[in-house]
Amino acid sequence: MTKQMMRYFRPMITATGITKSYGGLQVLKGVDISIAKGEVVSIVGASGAGKSTLLHILGTLDKPDSGKVMFEEQMVTAMNSSQLAQFRNKHIGFIFQFHNLLPEFTALENVCIPAYIARQDMRPSEQRAQELLEFLGLGDRAGHKPNQLSGGEQQRVAVARALMNNPDVILADEPSGNLDSKNARELHQLFFTLREKYNQTFVIVTHNDELAALADRALVMRDGKL
Ligand SMILES: Nc1ncnc2c1ncn2[C@@H]1O[C@H](COP(=O)(O)OP(=O)(O)OP(=O)(O)O)[C@@H](O)[C@H]1O
Ligand SMILES: [Mg+2]
Repeated sequence: MTKQMMRYFRPMITATGITKSYGGLQVLKGVDISIAKGEVVSIVGASGAGKSTLLHILGTLDKPDSGKVMFEEQMVTAMNSSQLAQFRNKHIGFIFQFHNLLPEFTALENVCIPAYIARQDMRPSEQRAQELLEFLGLGDRAGHKPNQLSGGEQQRVAVARALMNNPDVILADEPSGNLDSKNARELHQLFFTLREKYNQTFVIVTHNDELAALADRALVMRDGKL
């Protein structure tokens, strides 16, 4: 069996019949999507098409009006908000267009935050955070605050933070939208390195054609559907 087929046979996230409206505006009109472990899936589409809305629903940050989201055997759409917070912390990593790092904290502390939330011991968490930063070429930047880092470096800290609790999937919303083309390309390369090394699963909303083309599948959001 090829690596590609192995991926196909292990669905990690399955969303079916997802609908979502804001007031009179129906943004999602029955979205079905299934993502396998180790896949890199990109979602493209016009501004306002509903890409972020869908990503938030997949990431349990928002609830659909109807339809369900399953993570392997677990139906997340049936969980209450405290169960969801715990689930997210353990299973999902997020990367946004603007890194959302906390300005008062160092790179290392920012990377540790998901572990602190999970009440992990501080020492081993800091050790893992340092290892992640080193892997991402930021070993000597661990003590810097976000405003002492370049845009590309800040975004790599956000990647390290997303990886901290070893998530099943990383959901990224225009992760390179704020980077120049060189830094964007390096970030995209990093995603594929993480996939090759750790079989990390990614769902990436992007306007970047190069990244969309690199993905295993590029899904287009149009008229409320994929
Ligand atoms: N909380 C909200 N309240 C009301 N309308 C919303 C809300 N969130 C999103 N919308 C609307 O839903 C539609 C889809 O928004 P969404 O952010 O999902 O688009 P998008 O595809 O991510 O666009 P972009 O590429 O510009 O980020 C837009 O018309 C937006 O104005
Ligand atoms: Mg968006």
